[in-house]
Amino acid sequence: MKKDFVTIADWSTEEIVQTFDLARELKARFKAGEVYHPLKGKTLAMVFQKPSNRTRVSFEVGMYQLGGHALYLGPAEIGLGKRESVADVARVLARYVDGIMARVFDHDHVEQLADWASVPVINGLSDLVHPCQVMGDMLTIIEHRGRFEGVHVAWVGDGNNVCHSWLNLAAKIPFKLSIATPEGYEPRPDFVERALRGGVSEIALYHSAEEAVRGAEFVYTDVWASMGQEEEAEQRKQVFAPFQVNEALLKLADPNVKFLHCLPAHRGEEVTDEVMDGPHSIVFDQAENRLHIQKAILVKLMSEQA
Ligand code: CP
Ligand code: NVA
Repeated sequence: MKKDFVTIADWSTEEIVQTFDLARELKARFKAGEVYHPLKGKTLAMVFQKPSNRTRVSFEVGMYQLGGHALYLGPAEIGLGKRESVADVARVLARYVDGIMARVFDHDHVEQLADWASVPVINGLSDLVHPCQVMGDMLTIIEHRGRFEGVHVAWVGDGNNVCHSWLNLAAKIPFKLSIATPEGYEPRPDFVERALRGGVSEIALYHSAEEAVRGAEFVYTDVWASMGQEEEAEQRKQVFAPFQVNEALLKLADPNVKFLHCLPAHRGEEVTDEVMDGPHSIVFDQAENRLHIQKAILVKLMSEQA
């Protein structure tokens, strides 16, 4: 298998499905109180160019639970590509640590880290994709529905990094993905084409939230302005207003619909308090599953036993 996890597109269907199975096994073992240390003596460097709650904490706790250690390297420490070239950072870190997780602006930086580091590199979000997020989300869906085959997921909002990872997943395993964005905010055409070309999933693009959520079992949204787009936030609020996920929108979905959000949420913008805190919301199960799926990814990439 590939040394790294930079994008879901790089992994095979078999590797992806095995990762869900391993995450469920590791979660069950952890919940049963079992101590399991396949990464004893291993260290993960966590390079962050952007803020984080879930990614930072779940990777650090995950390494600890697996018997290893994680160290946080914020923008002030590394200065990736500024203080030192990405290639040099990669080659130096690989002499100290057994794996690197990186959250970057420019996707090319995480690709370069993977190219230059002799140790596994995991993408903890780039401007282009957020693969660990969507793997954890699908784990959550599997837990709630008992399967991923044929489930109907509706993405409502920006055609952003998380949306791109949903398209990448749809190219690998079969489900139904409906995407509603305002005009001009669609996911990148190459991601859509790759997912359509795969012929694995049923994919539909809309400019209406109402049409996309019709009959959906899972409705997913994300912030309207991602990290790095702060200066566009006010203008985006106008454009995205018809794409708010509220009770009225959820009424058009499957009666048993579940609401997903990668978090952090901007309550009152892309989602109402009523939906976030209501009976359909599974956002905190989703947040928890970042831990379990990433433990599986870490074990697959960094353990000799995997
Ligand atoms: N969902 C997610 O990646 O959250 P953080 O930005 O807090 O890590
Ligand atoms: N699309 C968001 C996801 C945050 C987890 C961002 O990139 O800021």
